[in-house]
Amino acid sequence: MSLVLYEQKEAIGYITINRPEALNALNSGVLEELDKVLDAIDLESVRCVIVRGAGEKSFVAGADIAQMKGLTKAEGEAFGKRGNDVFRKLETLPIPTIAAVGGYALGGGCELAMACDIRIASDTAVFGQPEVGLGITPGFGGTQRLARLVSPGMAKQLIYTARNIKADEALRIGLVNALYPLDELYAAADKLASTIAANAPIAVRASKKAINDGLQLSIDEAIVVEEKAFGSCFETADQQEGMGAFLEKRKHAPFANK
Ligand code: CAA
Repeated sequence: MSLVLYEQKEAIGYITINRPEALNALNSGVLEELDKVLDAIDLESVRCVIVRGAGEKSFVAGADIAQMKGLTKAEGEAFGKRGNDVFRKLETLPIPTIAAVGGYALGGGCELAMACDIRIASDTAVFGQPEVGLGITPGFGGTQRLARLVSPGMAKQLIYTARNIKADEALRIGLVNALYPLDELYAAADKLASTIAANAPIAVRASKKAINDGLQLSIDEAIVVEEKAFGSCFETADQQEGMGAFLEKRKHAPFANK
C-alpha cells in the first residue's frame, strides 16, 4: 500500500499522506514517495493541488519519532535536509497548493501545512510545534516558516512552549485561513481549488512566484519582481480573453493556459 496517494480529477491534484495507523507520521518512506508524487504532477493539466491526511483523526502528527530516536547528529541533520528539500519542492511547485487539515498538524505536520500556499482546517484540528518537548528543534522548516507566517514573537512562544493550539486559535493568529466542520472540510477545499483552477493559470502561477520571490527581497527589489510577473501575462491568449470578455460585457471562455 502506498504511503502517499495521488490522484487527479479534472484540473485538481489530490495528495494524501496515507499512514493512518501512525497518524500519518512522516518517515523516510513517506518523504521518498511524496518527493516522487511531486515530480509526477502533470503541470500542464493540474491547476491546483490539495494536500490532506488519510483518516479522520490526523493531517500529519509529525516526523516519525520512532525513526528519529536513534539517529546520530549527522543522520539527524540529513533527515532534516531530506524533509526540507521535499517541502521546498512542494512550496515552489509552480501551481497553488492547499493544505486541508483535518485533525492533528503537529511538528512536521504543521510544517507540511506551512509549505502549502493556503491552509484551511477542520474545527477539530490541532496545530503545534512540540519538538522541544522531545529534545529537538523543529526540523522541516518550522523555525523559519512559522515566524514568517504568524509573527516572530508568536512563533517563538509556540516553539519554546511546545504548546499545541486548537483550530480557533490557529485561525486567530493567521496560521489557517478558515475553519469548517470536518465533514465539510474536503468539499470546501475542492470548492476553493476549483475557484482557483477557473482563473487564468499563467496569471495565477505568476502571482504565486511573485509573492514567494518578493517576500525574500527588499520592497524596492520586490516591486521589480511584480513588474516582471505582470508583464509576463500580456500577449497571452488568456489575457486577451479575460480583458476582452470584460470589455464586451460577457463571461469569459474557459482559460486555456496559453
Ligand atoms: N511519530 C511516530 N509515531 C506516531 C507519531 C509520530 N510523530 N504520532 C503518532 N504516532 C503513532 C503512535 O505511536 C501510535 O502508534 P501505536 O498505535 O503503534 O502505539 C499511533 O500513532 C496513534 O497515536 P496515539 O496512540 O498517540 O494517539 P492519541 O490519540 O493518543 O494521541 C497525538 C494523538 C496527540 C497526536 C499523539 O500521537 C502525539 O502526541 N504524537 C506525536 C506528536 C509530535 O510530537 N509530533 C512532532 C514530532 S517531531 C517532528 O515533527 C520533528 C520535525 O519537525 C521534523
